[in-house]
Amino acid sequence: MSQRAFSRRRFLQGAAGATAGLAIPGHLSALWPSVAAAPAAAGAQPLTIAKRFAPIVPRFPHILHGGDYNPDQWIERPDILQEDIGLMEKAGCNTFSVGIFAWVRLEPEEGRYTFDWLDGVLDRIAAKGWNVFLATPSGAKPQWMSLKYPEIKRVGRDGRRAFHAFRHDHCQTSPIYRRKVQEINTRLAERYAKHPALAGWHVSNEYSGDCFCDLCLARFRDWLRGRYNTLDALNQAYWSGFWSQTLTAWEQIEPRETPLDGLRLDWLRFTTDQTVDFMKHEIAPLRRLTPDTPVTTNMMGTFHGLDYWRFTDVCDRMAWDAYLFFHDDNAWKAAAGAGFTNDIYRAMKGGRPFLLMESTPSSTNWYHTPTLKKPGQHEQEMLLAIGHGADTTMYFQWRKGRGGFEKFHGAVVDHEGSDKGRVFQDVAAHGALLKKLDAIVGTSVKPEVAVLFDWEVRWALAMSEGPRQNADWRGWGPFEKEYNETAVEHYRPFWKLGIPVDVIESTRPLDAYKLVVAPMLYMLKPGVAEKLRTFVQAGGTLVLTYLSGIVNETNLCLPGGWPGAGLRELAGVWAEELDSIASDSPQRLVAKAGNALGLTGDFPVKTYCDRIHAEKADVLATYQSDFYAGQPALTVNRFGKGRCYYVAARPADDTLHDALVRGLVREIGLARALDVDLPEGTTVQMRSGDGEVFLFLHNFRREARVVDLKAQRLTDLVTGETLTGKVTLPAFASRVLRKG
Ligand code: GLA
Ligand code: ZN
Repeated sequence: MSQRAFSRRRFLQGAAGATAGLAIPGHLSALWPSVAAAPAAAGAQPLTIAKRFAPIVPRFPHILHGGDYNPDQWIERPDILQEDIGLMEKAGCNTFSVGIFAWVRLEPEEGRYTFDWLDGVLDRIAAKGWNVFLATPSGAKPQWMSLKYPEIKRVGRDGRRAFHAFRHDHCQTSPIYRRKVQEINTRLAERYAKHPALAGWHVSNEYSGDCFCDLCLARFRDWLRGRYNTLDALNQAYWSGFWSQTLTAWEQIEPRETPLDGLRLDWLRFTTDQTVDFMKHEIAPLRRLTPDTPVTTNMMGTFHGLDYWRFTDVCDRMAWDAYLFFHDDNAWKAAAGAGFTNDIYRAMKGGRPFLLMESTPSSTNWYHTPTLKKPGQHEQEMLLAIGHGADTTMYFQWRKGRGGFEKFHGAVVDHEGSDKGRVFQDVAAHGALLKKLDAIVGTSVKPEVAVLFDWEVRWALAMSEGPRQNADWRGWGPFEKEYNETAVEHYRPFWKLGIPVDVIESTRPLDAYKLVVAPMLYMLKPGVAEKLRTFVQAGGTLVLTYLSGIVNETNLCLPGGWPGAGLRELAGVWAEELDSIASDSPQRLVAKAGNALGLTGDFPVKTYCDRIHAEKADVLATYQSDFYAGQPALTVNRFGKGRCYYVAARPADDTLHDALVRGLVREIGLARALDVDLPEGTTVQMRSGDGEVFLFLHNFRREARVVDLKAQRLTDLVTGETLTGKVTLPAFASRVLRKG
């Protein structure tokens, strides 16, 4: 596992549980922000979808349960492989990703294939009527291949070719590696096309990283030629006259060390395109030989290095690996962070259920503090994902290996080897519960709210020197200007209120939404400003913030005053200057008396404060201190039939976010999944289809919480009980309910 793998993990953990270490302010300890009921839309129920989506495995209309199964590590122990099947049955598992890193077991020397062990595994699983997501093994190349064909190994930024090293580290351009991958994938597809266990393809594993070999650099230069046509256009796009960086021949393009932030940004775009291209190449034999078998690849949540939206056309379903830091006193914040990522993966395929492809059934060995899941938390984590649209709950991994990097990583079957342990029992209890959730399969939700979260916006900001300093311009690690965390903070108030949200990239259509929140929309990709104007013009509500509309798609600052490209007119404000706030000079935002959103009092802000002019907008709040005390800090502008809000400063806690969303919900009349006041630490998520509506009600606190359903009657899908009035949710408890 490379250093980079570790840094992405730190980052992932940060994204999911971004502020998990903070205490909950006292004023939030009773109820989340409460709002008046939204008027029910005439006709169809809001938030519902008309028809269910097809199950991921059409012949198997159940929630899929299982995980990474690595029998290739146990070939010498046929007794263990046999025992596995009995244990899988006891755990209520039915679906396994098999052979992910098994290349050397499938092809121990070039051209000699050994599939017999895999035949046995698939046969045993098929005999039970279960499913296999058959992996293509490209995530870990065999040692013999690296030695014979050194070009398949990556070259680093320093120009040195890597050792055979770890995994996930092949060159994506190498024609030899591409050929080798196609050869093995063709063999797999030919052999197992008709196998009754084959339910899907698990392509490679967690694609990531870049390579600077001559092949990749040449490919990059071609890619730039395709994008810019002429060097003149490229030089203009990069503002390369600065520091004498003008390029006078394509060969001079050098992405390894460059002050051209547009070039650095393009390198990330290229790396994504090259990975997508590699995947297309990798799946070509699968598409040809198994045209009806769905293809997916497991992704790393909001991993910085690849723009996962670019994979949505290549994958039949989206899948992600969730390792939540879920186990502390602020589990709800980690849960909200995971909810945000789940809502990306559901939105990526227009609401189609996604796969939770990996999660830990116990603790995670690469965490600094791998705490155990407390009683209830395993079930809760799984139901959280399902509530947001997952049709699978799967683990890394089925059985702990005795050695290697991950021998201490949680697994369903521990080194002890039996079904007696707490983790196994929790997994088995979940497996039993899933048997009662068939009705959920294929259901989804149609949110009225979208939060924009865009990889390219995030990259552009990370690549730029300033407006605050970046510790690492490549954007790896936790130094990327808190774009993720900010997006999650804007998302969280909706999650607390049980208001479904789609998290989408900035270029997606907006017509389906009533409210769009666009935190730190620093870069405007082509067409985005016009689309936002059209959305508001037609009656939509938009929330913009500081650091929006600053640059174009090559990271050049937009002229004519920020927010640029027509957003200044839309927001009715000119953001003249951006102040950077030091921790020892606190700033606050003070609500104006009688403001339209009903905000009262004052709110702490931090990091960024735009000094704005309300050119046309109404002022809802002003700054409290410094030389711009009394100047606008929160505004609203009527534009066409809609409204555009501008939040000029970054809230320092949830209070402003909560108050703002509370006001918006009232004003716009947004529907909630369940029309009740939710106590702090709880949420409700919703799925629907074919006239049925299901609710997932969770308490993420160590203490019991009471939810007052008042006169509403809901049926518990698991116990059959009818719930009404006051319902007590014990610590870390979740319930799956049917409406009506
Ligand atoms: C990733 C990988 C798995 C395993 C787990 C451990 O998600 O895909 O192979 O390494 O992490 O958490
Ligand atoms: Zn390369």
